[in-house]
Amino acid sequence: MLANSYALPDDPSDVSWSGTDVPLYTRNSGANQIALQRKLAVLEGGEDAVVLASGVAALHAVFFTFLRSGDHVVVSDVTYEATWRLFAEILPEKYGISATFIDPSDLEAVLAAITPDTRLVHVETIGNPTTKVADIGVLAEIAHSAGALLSVDSTFTPPPMYRPLADGADLVVHSLTKFINGHGDAMGGAVVGSKELVDRVKADAMVDVGGVISPSNAWLITRGSVTLPLRLRQHLDSALKLARFLEQDPRVAFVAYPGLESHPQHALATRQFADGYGGVLSFALRGDSELQNRFVAALEIITSAVSLGHDESLIVHVGTSGPRVAAYPEPFREYGHLRLSVGLEDPEDLTADIAAALDAVAPL
Ligand SMILES: Cc1ncc(COP(=O)(O)O)c(C=O)c1O
Repeated sequence: MLANSYALPDDPSDVSWSGTDVPLYTRNSGANQIALQRKLAVLEGGEDAVVLASGVAALHAVFFTFLRSGDHVVVSDVTYEATWRLFAEILPEKYGISATFIDPSDLEAVLAAITPDTRLVHVETIGNPTTKVADIGVLAEIAHSAGALLSVDSTFTPPPMYRPLADGADLVVHSLTKFINGHGDAMGGAVVGSKELVDRVKADAMVDVGGVISPSNAWLITRGSVTLPLRLRQHLDSALKLARFLEQDPRVAFVAYPGLESHPQHALATRQFADGYGGVLSFALRGDSELQNRFVAALEIITSAVSLGHDESLIVHVGTSGPRVAAYPEPFREYGHLRLSVGLEDPEDLTADIAAALDAVAPL
């Protein structure tokens, strides 16, 4: 249903103008948003969800709602770029919120970073783009014993692959733009959790800030999500096949994928996630930035574009310069990296595409 306003009762005196539970006005709630919110709450095992215009709007909504001036946050040293910029620059400079960046796999560093002002610990289940895996159960214990909330960006590990709330996370954030929509044709974001916490996000960061999702995007994402479990199976199977294929090629410098035995958190990923290890891997060829670019240009099925979790396979070359690269592990700093989001194409076709591009730029 596409509407930005809904019929009022004959006597509207009891209507709450900032209410979010019944369709009233699309900045508060609408039929399509409510349907998607209910679905996401069920999928994640939460009491409620709020959907917003993008994944970044959802991340910002969590930080804006639960942090105030003087508060401190413990956050992964490698996260999606906007999260990093919010904590490295925007929130400290504008609002006096401080952040300590930690390696989430180094639990001693996490404990050492906690201060009496820590109100939030924020991590990605699988970090973008390093694929580092965070142990959500342990991080939840650390956050809670400090009186802080744990928010988890689970964009790389949508349900049914993983449900962070079951391991103790307080809030789960998704970029719906990625796997949950799955078709590369709509943007959205979500925060899922208890009704009490989600109500606060709705009240503080939706109704009076206004980064709402459009009804048509909410509808597209709800429809896309119908096939999520089936699509996910294909993403996970194909990503593992491609990671193994790349790892055995001598022209490939490194492959970062939690499904490989060589990944430092392979055991944790096996224990924590169901059915697989995600649809995204990072790798690089042995060579310079120009070689990586020529390889990407030689691909015919895999498209060079940002984003991930789409039906189509997408690859993006990120070089060795830039403010974030210093926090990446050594091979990322040396070679740059190619982040590959493995799509729904036949994995044999994807392997053949990669093999042909490798032979074109670096014949054996
Ligand atoms: C892990 C993660 N979180 C959040 C986002 C932001 O999502 P959106 O582009 O929908 O704002 C992205 C985007 O790539 C992401 O990879």
